[in-house]
Amino acid sequence: MEYIRTLITAYFAFKKPFFDRSFRHTETTKLLLVQKGGPFEVKKTPQHDVKPDQVLIRQRAIALNGLDPLQRDLGVNIQTWPYVLGVEGAGVIEAIGSEVEGFQVGDEVLAWELSVEGWGGAYQEHVVVPARFVAKKPKNISIEEAASLPICYNAAICTMFALKLRIPIPNFRGASNSEGEPEPKSILVLGGSSVVGASAIQLLRLAYPSVPIFATSSPAHHAHLLSLGATKVFDYHSPTMVSDIKAASPESRGVDMIFDVVGAGASQTDICDTFDPNGIKKYGALVTAKTVTVPEGVTKFESGGWTLLGMPGQEQVIPALAQLVEEGKYKVPLSVKVVGHGLEQIPDVMDQVRSVSGEKLIVTL
Ligand SMILES: NC(=O)c1ccc[n+]([C@@H]2O[C@H](COP(=O)([O-])OP(=O)(O)OC[C@H]3O[C@@H](n4cnc5c(N)ncnc54)[C@H](OP(=O)(O)O)[C@@H]3O)[C@@H](O)[C@H]2O)c1
Repeated sequence: MEYIRTLITAYFAFKKPFFDRSFRHTETTKLLLVQKGGPFEVKKTPQHDVKPDQVLIRQRAIALNGLDPLQRDLGVNIQTWPYVLGVEGAGVIEAIGSEVEGFQVGDEVLAWELSVEGWGGAYQEHVVVPARFVAKKPKNISIEEAASLPICYNAAICTMFALKLRIPIPNFRGASNSEGEPEPKSILVLGGSSVVGASAIQLLRLAYPSVPIFATSSPAHHAHLLSLGATKVFDYHSPTMVSDIKAASPESRGVDMIFDVVGAGASQTDICDTFDPNGIKKYGALVTAKTVTVPEGVTKFESGGWTLLGMPGQEQVIPALAQLVEEGKYKVPLSVKVVGHGLEQIPDVMDQVRSVSGEKLIVTL
């Protein structure tokens, strides 16, 4: 018995380094943004080192985001050049750091691909990511759909956390944040057909099964948002939208919380008239390129995906995605559309995110 135990221990001790060496490419290819405003350059570089808590992912699908052209044009959050843009993708694990547990070389995964130590984000053939921001690809979805999942879910969870709402992750360590907070009686999601909005509707529905969740979008997306759990959806172009929302709220008093994931309040300046004057009046604003100001008496809570870095239970958030999707509790928020193949095509298709409507844009590698 002891002999068998020793053999098993030795096998697992040697397995990781063995696979690490045998599968790892020595070079990788990056899409470099040479300087603010461009141009881009596709370049071969030495392979990344993998630290003990990291994994190396060979990218198969990369999702485009509104942040990409903003960073290209304005250099937002970029300290050194050249820089690799992109914040999310999916692929296959090619190497594993010595302290990482729960993953194997060859696993299909999705990841929040924040730039690690200046090595950049998603727009490269290989990316290194802390293992806590990686989830196994849910078995019931495609690799392209998997690439569309991380940042919208992360941004929606972070906004819920900022608003001290319940987070629907089993045994979530950051749960104490919502303890003792008043429960919202109704919530309004502005930008329901954005990918963050379609994610937020589902997570709010999971967290608050019987609370009315209203959303705004163009009529073309109303049926989809209802299927994700919205109680009622309003056309944001309608001149009567504000009074219609108020009329639909419990006893027509107005909503308790607004969840603005597209900076809608910057142009829809009367949106706070939908609040119940005697309610909680919390306005959750995901940070976008637009600045939203709220009237006196309304409390604004700003959030972004980076909020995850300081959140208790952060290591539970992205890994929980696989379980939520496989159990059918959380759907791929929007249908995905493949708009290109290869790093070379990304500069040509990147601006399509500016006019996207109810879809998530993907480039395959
Ligand atoms: N701070 C962060 O960490 C973070 C993370 C992720 C995203 N973001 C930002 O959050 C925003 C949303 O990102 P996303 O990727 O989810 O966007 P997206 O999917 O590209 O959003 C496009 C959708 O927004 C809808 N929309 C635009 N203006 C609207 C308005 N005034 N009212 C209602 N709906 C409106 C459009 O609806 P219709 O098609 O129905 O017209 C369209 O379907 C972007 O500004 C992005 O940069 C920030």
